[in-house]
Amino acid sequence: MCGIVGYVGHGAVKASEVLLAGLKKLEYRGYDSAGIAQIVPGQPTLHRLRAKGKLDNLAAKIAEEQIEATIGIGHTRWATHGKPEEYNAHPHTNRSQTLAVVQNGIIENYHSLRQQLREQGYEFASDTDTEVIPHLIDSFLRDNTLLRAVCQAVKRLQGAFALAILCVYYPDQIILVRQQAPLVIGLGKGENFCASDTPALAPYTRSVLPLENGEIARLTAKGVELFNFNGDPIKLRPPQTLNWNPVLIEKQGFRHFMLKEIYEQPGVIRSGIAKFLQDDDTIELGLPGDALERVKQIQIVACGTSWHAGLVGKHLLEQIAQIPTTVSYASEYRYAPPPFVPDTLVIGVTQSGETADTLAALELAKSRGHKCLGITNRTDSSLSRIAHYLLDTQAGIEIGVAATKTFTAQLLTFYWLALFLQPDNPKKAELTLGLRQLPAHIERILESQERYIEQLAHKFSHTQDFIFIGRGINYPIALEGALKLKEISYIHGEGYPAGEMKHGPIALLDEAVPVVAIATPGVVYEKVLSNAQEAKARDAQLIGVAPLTDPAAREIFDHILPIPVVDELLSPLLTVIPLQLLAYHIAAHRGLDVDQPRNLAKSVTVE
Ligand code: G6P
Repeated sequence: MCGIVGYVGHGAVKASEVLLAGLKKLEYRGYDSAGIAQIVPGQPTLHRLRAKGKLDNLAAKIAEEQIEATIGIGHTRWATHGKPEEYNAHPHTNRSQTLAVVQNGIIENYHSLRQQLREQGYEFASDTDTEVIPHLIDSFLRDNTLLRAVCQAVKRLQGAFALAILCVYYPDQIILVRQQAPLVIGLGKGENFCASDTPALAPYTRSVLPLENGEIARLTAKGVELFNFNGDPIKLRPPQTLNWNPVLIEKQGFRHFMLKEIYEQPGVIRSGIAKFLQDDDTIELGLPGDALERVKQIQIVACGTSWHAGLVGKHLLEQIAQIPTTVSYASEYRYAPPPFVPDTLVIGVTQSGETADTLAALELAKSRGHKCLGITNRTDSSLSRIAHYLLDTQAGIEIGVAATKTFTAQLLTFYWLALFLQPDNPKKAELTLGLRQLPAHIERILESQERYIEQLAHKFSHTQDFIFIGRGINYPIALEGALKLKEISYIHGEGYPAGEMKHGPIALLDEAVPVVAIATPGVVYEKVLSNAQEAKARDAQLIGVAPLTDPAAREIFDHILPIPVVDELLSPLLTVIPLQLLAYHIAAHRGLDVDQPRNLAKSVTVE
């Protein structure tokens, strides 16, 4: 979603170059317009450039203007209030153009503030909630310093937000505000940076200072000062060192980040095994001894693909650890949590660690007295400040908006958790052996099948509707296969538990609607094959994610995406791989922006 960058330096580099490079590193989060504001040196004026669409449009404007500023702020906007048009793009300014503000988040009371400001004579040039902020600060600036005016203004704002503010009367400083939306300061030598996400800082510095909720920072080229919302100084914390692998944010010869990240999955699983599975098959989670004691029930909260990981997690926690588990959409849980039951562990699953709904659901669970565990690959995210305990899935940062390696890494984490909670499970040795063999199996699928899946994808790239079916532990994979397809190819896909087809969705089937069935040997194998037969009888083309070795599967399916036979409980880690490739190749063949699909964001920081 929206991204913020800020830079204040000493003149060796142009602020606009740093801002543009920073915004480029935040592109993966999803956006539909962008802008920067700088203070023109020597004269107290703001210079603002904004453009609808991709950053190239903004870059062209920046190149035309050639401003030599040393201080500036920038923003990529993902439209919430108001269309993705240039007049709604950030930075927003006051009328006299002496103040510029970029914001991530939502100002919930913007409507009433807008009304009050209008009554004071302020006029609005955009449809955004953000525009109230420069006017509000302006209204306090007459009798105050910039810092004091910002303090007055932020106390009037309701919602979750992060701000970066420039004012021509204070040409050496950027004021930053954090309230429930991430903002990180990067410390350099004679220059300082800020960003809403660390990829924008990593090329410049590893020394970072994440702001806490309720903090304001004054950033100059020389240093940083921290304040609370009353303007009282706060003691500066020592900076943290950014743990960063630059390889993860480069394409490394792959056409898209998504394809690269699909190929990273064997490595991610190996890292998970190295981190959590000991040579003697014990699971070491690295949590305090009492963290998971007396867990009688588990509630999982998540959104999107992470919610699908939660569904697989439920299956594992119930079948392996025998702990009753529920899975809720975080956006539903936060307004209708289940009745309180003591000794319930609440698990938040999120690849970004910033999803507003998931964080709010966890905050709620925490306030009700539940122990909260976060499962994420972004241990530096806001999730780490809310969850009591954190499990690092070992996936690292993911750039493609459609989650792939972070999903398999989340699944894997649930195996560790379930086996940890039930170390005496009779299948433990079999499962750990199977888990150790998984990376090689995935490598084989990638090596042997990508070409074939690509050809198949071309055949189906104009299809309008797909149905995905699965049962048991592979039902969530059917949902995930359908979600991947719609996210990046904009083709309609629905996932169903295979046994439910006959209760309604079967009415959709004809020769134009292919059915992808996940059929892996195990308790529901024959059932899925029968459900697939029912689809075939309605002329649907059948694609099976199934073992090639089974004559029954070969007879039923028109096309097989073969997977090796493994224990059914482990199969989701394999069955999802061909579905990721299928979605990827359909989208790539349609010439779509696979890594940044329309309307989607990697990090959904608004409700
Ligand atoms: C967005 C992303 C999805 C992701 C979902 C949940 O919609 O586009 O890929 O699954 O958010 O995100 P989270 O960061 O909480 O896993």
